[in-house]
Amino acid sequence: MSSSEKKTPILVAGAGSGIGKSVLENLDMLGKDAIGISRTGVVRDVKSSFEFGKNYQCNLSRTSEVPEFVSSLQKQFHSLSGVYFTFGSGLFKPVDQITLEEWNAHFVLNLNSLFVLTKEILPLLKPGAFLCYLSSTAGYQGFPESTAYCASRHAIAGFAKALREELKPKGIRVITVYPGAVYTEIWKGREGFDQDDMIPVDDFGKWLATLSTLPDAVYPDEIRLLPRKGIL
Ligand SMILES: NC(=O)c1ccc[n+]([C@@H]2O[C@H](COP(=O)([O-])OP(=O)(O)OC[C@H]3O[C@@H](n4cnc5c(N)ncnc54)[C@H](OP(=O)(O)O)[C@@H]3O)[C@@H](O)[C@H]2O)c1
Repeated sequence: MSSSEKKTPILVAGAGSGIGKSVLENLDMLGKDAIGISRTGVVRDVKSSFEFGKNYQCNLSRTSEVPEFVSSLQKQFHSLSGVYFTFGSGLFKPVDQITLEEWNAHFVLNLNSLFVLTKEILPLLKPGAFLCYLSSTAGYQGFPESTAYCASRHAIAGFAKALREELKPKGIRVITVYPGAVYTEIWKGREGFDQDDMIPVDDFGKWLATLSTLPDAVYPDEIRLLPRKGIL
């Protein structure tokens, strides 16, 4: 077995910007071997190996790209020690202004891709590995002009709750984080919110990355995290 095959990296799905980008950087600072994926990642030359700390291109909305990416990962690594699901998008409009196309595209990225990626990476997970999903305060509470977002965040929370029970016998930990406002692209252009009331993205990324340092026998399940002002 080559030295690369013995490594068990962490995958950050959605490392192009915001929370995921910060998690990838902070994992690197913690000395963890981690690889990112997102639409804006670098295109990997099929003959070269994955390099830790880099974000590679994969459009998770094109669900057919997911098995392709996972099989390329499997050629280099036998297992992963964890996966952060930090990709996603917002859709903030009154319900009567959301088109079916927008609704469907939101669910393809935020839910279908999450399901497909989870399913594909399962064979790479050994006892002690973790899966970390990001829900939101919108995953346990309703907000106006947020029907699609609240529905997808509640769905992620439900998916993760069921998966946790399914994977417990295998020793695979499923963690759901419900963050309050973290200042990223998702908030830009939304009126009535102040950046100063939100958690700076690097503070959040720094904390999220530390979940990868927990001992295997510690099973965090549901974690709510808010800025000082609480729910905005
Ligand atoms: N910020 C908050 O206050 C907050 C609170 C609770 C939950 N969340 C959740 O956290 C997640 C990340 O949000 P964020 O605030 O960090 O927003 P963001 O900066 O917009 O990040 C979105 C991430 O998803 C990736 N992405 C988007 N479409 C993709 C696609 N088709 N394929 C692959 N990757 C894709 C982006 O990278 P590319 O652009 O390179 O594709 C980026 O890394 C979202 O699911 C959001 O709902 C955020």
